[in-house]
Amino acid sequence: MKITFLGHAALLVEDINFKALIDPYLTGNPLYKKNRYDIEGVTHIFITHGHRDHVGDALDIAKANDALIISNAELASAFHQHDKELKLHPMHIGGSFTFPFGRVKMTPAVHGSSYQDEHGSHDGGNPGGFLITINGKTLYHAGDTGLIMDMQLLADEHVDVAFLPIGGNYTMDIKDAVKAVTFIKPKQVVPMHYNTFPLIKADPEEFRSKVKDATVVILQPRDSIKI
Ligand code: NI
Ligand code: MN
Repeated sequence: MKITFLGHAALLVEDINFKALIDPYLTGNPLYKKNRYDIEGVTHIFITHGHRDHVGDALDIAKANDALIISNAELASAFHQHDKELKLHPMHIGGSFTFPFGRVKMTPAVHGSSYQDEHGSHDGGNPGGFLITINGKTLYHAGDTGLIMDMQLLADEHVDVAFLPIGGNYTMDIKDAVKAVTFIKPKQVVPMHYNTFPLIKADPEEFRSKVKDATVVILQPRDSIKI
């Protein structure tokens, strides 16, 4: 599995016959300096929650690529109202499903999830995160969340790489993200959701210096990691 950081909480995840985006906030993302149309052949789009900086360009990219959107059930229903032709796979917290490419499990997050479109504001259900396992390798994208005890349950999931928010204000800050690493016990951890806006300013090197039991990989936008 090759994972490319696109800035903020946006990832491109590639494997054989699988090209997925997670939280594709590309247009308007100050850290993503390329055109979203650079990414072609997208097969799947994962959405952790309804906020604008996570849904981003998902619906347009899904439409252009005939990609399957995987999200919680309430967001899937709001997306369906928006465009009846979108391909949607609703899931929910704690649920897992084996797709042709691998296994996906939705994990809890403590945050909001309202979704706005031209019809107004929609109930975006509960925010979440995703565990994605392909060929025995597991990626965890925490979504936007505060520190929660439920993260201790992820230690059994043998996470190869965890993407955790560290920016504070809306999510965990560095101190709490360091504690999250002790709960999740991933092999590697990549900080995300920081330095996009002034309110979420954080120093990833400080995070690196405080994490003891996992390798911290700091990715610049467009950098990749392989697991
Ligand atoms: Ni959010
Ligand atoms: Mn966010």
